[in-house]
Amino acid sequence: MSEDSFILVSNENELKNGSMKLFNVAGKNILLARFNDQIYGISNRCPHMGCSLANGKLNAYIVTCPCHGWSFDVRTGQNQRSKDINIQVYQCKLQDGKIYVNIPDVI
Ligand code: FES
Repeated sequence: MSEDSFILVSNENELKNGSMKLFNVAGKNILLARFNDQIYGISNRCPHMGCSLANGKLNAYIVTCPCHGWSFDVRTGQNQRSKDINIQVYQCKLQDGKIYVNIPDVI
C-alpha cells in the first residue's frame, strides 16, 4: 500500500501559466506544467527513445517531445496516438504560494 508524500518543490511564481519546467524531486526528473492555474507533473523521460520532454513544447495540456514528435496529455500521461502508451503522472498541489508534488512511498 502506498502512502501519499507531498514534497515541496518550488515557489508558485517560478512556474508561469502556460509554461513547464524540469525539477529533480526525490531523485526523479519530473516535468511540471502549468495551465489554467493548475499544476501537472509528469515523468520527463519520453518513452519512445528517452528524450527530455522539458525541451519540447507545451500547448494547453499537450506536451510534444522535441525528438520525434510524440505528444502526451499532462493531465493523464496518455500518448495522443496510442492508448497503450503513457507516462507516469505525479499529483501536484498549490498551497500558500508553493508547489508540492506527491511522490508515493517517499518518506
Ligand atoms: S524520443 Fe520522444 S518522440 Fe522519440
